[in-house]
Amino acid sequence: MAQPRQTPPVKRVHIKTFGCQMNEYDSERMAEALGTAGYLPADDAAEADLVILNTCHIREKAADKVYSELGRMRLAKEARRREGRDTLIAVAGCVAQAEGQEIIARAPVVDLVVGPQSYHRLAALVAEAEAGGKGLVATDFPAEDKFAHLPQRARQRSKPSAFITVQEGCDKFCTFCVVPYTRGAEYSRAPSEIVAEAERLAAQEACEITLLGQNVNAYHGRGPDGQSWNLARLLRRLAELPSIARLRFTTSHPLDMDDELIALFGEEPKLMPYLHLPFQSGSDRILKAMNRKHTVADYEAVIAKVRTVRPDIALSTDIIVGFPGETDSDFADTMALAERARFAQAFTFKYSARPGTPAASFAGQVPEAAKHERLRRLQSLIDTHRRAFDLAAVGRRLPVLFEAKGRKPGQVAGRSPYLQPVYIEGPATLIGRIAPVDILAASPNSLTGVIKSGFEWREPVQAAE
Ligand code: 5AD
Ligand code: SF4
Repeated sequence: MAQPRQTPPVKRVHIKTFGCQMNEYDSERMAEALGTAGYLPADDAAEADLVILNTCHIREKAADKVYSELGRMRLAKEARRREGRDTLIAVAGCVAQAEGQEIIARAPVVDLVVGPQSYHRLAALVAEAEAGGKGLVATDFPAEDKFAHLPQRARQRSKPSAFITVQEGCDKFCTFCVVPYTRGAEYSRAPSEIVAEAERLAAQEACEITLLGQNVNAYHGRGPDGQSWNLARLLRRLAELPSIARLRFTTSHPLDMDDELIALFGEEPKLMPYLHLPFQSGSDRILKAMNRKHTVADYEAVIAKVRTVRPDIALSTDIIVGFPGETDSDFADTMALAERARFAQAFTFKYSARPGTPAASFAGQVPEAAKHERLRRLQSLIDTHRRAFDLAAVGRRLPVLFEAKGRKPGQVAGRSPYLQPVYIEGPATLIGRIAPVDILAASPNSLTGVIKSGFEWREPVQAAE
């Protein structure tokens, strides 16, 4: 008698992502790579045969947080083992890169440590761990191109707004920052690869693409013509794709904001009026100690040019308070720059020493209480400006790209060109579409409005005004 055929048990992977959009992108690519190796996604770590922590090293005490998470993972692994199920635990991301072997030494529950440059080897490493390989560590910077070795993006869930990493790593070596150590030297992907990825995403209904890179405007990929393409040229090429209605990019360095890229904000309607441009400190003395390679005047000259070509632009920034040696007067300069620049959005940080970075051993570390007070004052100033920016949208009609259902039933959520979250009452069929919205009110973190009366939302719409 024929035996019933044994189907291999389904394997599941749960990826927990910390940190920036680049990590989110990496997690998607890891899930895809593991998908081709037979792993289906698990929403819950308790259901997963493989758990990956995709870690971030930017925030304070990042490594400590990973170790306490691993403590919890150990208990979960033991509970599953009592049910006769095994769990592999992998640590990826920037903490993996920075700590390497140390992770296995401190948390022997970890089966695999994999740095961001080795994700194309992930499926093979997982297979090695499944076969009994212990304490595997892949944190070198391999010579081969990881993007070329990652499987093509065919399994992506369709999303109206998608990310593409176009550039990785950084050669700037700001003295507070771990990125040049964890992500390595600057590297740009080829335009042809990026365009192909954008076309695949567009075929899966993406209509907005955000190009990602730690230093995205330093992009210099080798084009099919053998020439080096800058970010402006790449954006212009992507703008030619008919179903891509919106383009964004982040994060930029003031030094690499060339005139061609600035001009594009005035020339290319698909390039959204939003620019994230960290300035870090408003004091030239501190900027020098940070090795930022720009002055306050350089920064203000760039934003003045951007505002000339696109007066309505939403400017966003990163600011650090309490960098070693920062005096009250340096901080007053930071407040003054924030006051002059009037950001629509800003991410503010208390300086915290990262082991291995030059500033960690600088004299003049600022006491916690002073950092706390400076952060509070800065955040309150930034909030005033953000609120004013949001209030200026009230009464305007803005094209909104709807991305998801809102928190309340019958609500849909989208983004304005300025990246403001916008909520309206409307059907879920709006998701993935751009529709004109009359903005009625600004609450502290979002806008609310109504679809322009008479707008026919069953018709396909592109960039609607
Ligand atoms: N301390 C505080 N903030 C930091 N950032 C990076 N490194 C540090 C650090 N050691 C902030 C910078 C950067 C953002 C991503 O994180 O402002 O632009
Ligand atoms: Fe870090 Fe950005 Fe400075 Fe590079 S430019 S070292 S990523 S803060």
